[in-house]
Parts: sequence; structure tokens; C-alpha cells
Amino acid sequence: MGRLKELRKYVDARINEMTDADKRTSAIAHLYGVSLAATMIAKKRGLDPEIASMAAMLHDLHAYKTGSYDNHAHLGADLAREILNELKLTDEDETELICSAIYHHDDKLVTDSPMDEVLKDADVIHHCMNDLSKDIKEKEQARYVNLCAEFGM
Ligand SMILES: [Fe+2]
Repeated sequence: MGRLKELRKYVDARINEMTDADKRTSAIAHLYGVSLAATMIAKKRGLDPEIASMAAMLHDLHAYKTGSYDNHAHLGADLAREILNELKLTDEDETELICSAIYHHDDKLVTDSPMDEVLKDADVIHHCMNDLSKDIKEKEQARYVNLCAEFGM
């Protein structure tokens, strides 16, 4: 089994522990949606799509696990590190890339490393394009405009 598939199996099991069916569906849709967007963005920018996709699969897991978004990016990076250390799917550098992307993913108004930016942009794509009838959050507007330009949309 490929390592992305193995990580998804682990994440699916964690999400399936959520008791609220609607929240469970939203969590799965969001993680897989961001994962697909991250793959596309990373490929377009010449970065590792598999690492981008793995970061996306883990990025909001802390919030889903605890039901709280308080400091979820920083706490989520710690949780991702624990999971990656346990699953042994990544080397040290890859673990750093993934945890850094998760750590910074809520800082939508600043620019961080290229892989950090892939996860932020993938998160924004899913927030904005999952339902086009919904308003775009102010802090995501500039990124969304730039992404539409980058992808010729
Ligand atoms: Fe997210």
C-alpha cells in the first residue's frame, strides 16, 4: 500500500470516531478536498504533491479530535508529528515539511515557505469552492483572487 493510502486509512479511522454524522461528513469532505487541491497546487509549483497531500490529510485533525479550533494549527502540528513518528511513513525532512505546513496554515495573511503556502492555498480553495454560493472570508479573499489568476479561472 502506498504511504498516502496508509495515512488516509489512519485518518479515516480517527474521523470515524467522531459521533456527529454531519461533522464527520464535513471533516472527510474537507480533508480529501484540501488533499486534492494540495496535490494540484504542489504539482503546478514543482513541489512534492505527495507530501502536500499528506499535510492536507492531517491539517485539521486536532480540531476534529477536540471539537475546538483554538490554536488548532499549532496543536495540529504537534499531533501530526506524533502520528508521523508512529506511522514511520516519512523521513525527518518530510516530517518537518508537513508539520511546518500545518503549523502555519491558519496564517493566511502572511507568506511562509513554498510548501506552507501550498497548504494555505489548498485550504482556501476548498473553503471557497466547496460551495460557490457562500461568501468568501475576508482573510481569504486575496489568496482566492491570486489562485484564480494562477490557475486561469
Ligand atoms: Fe482546513
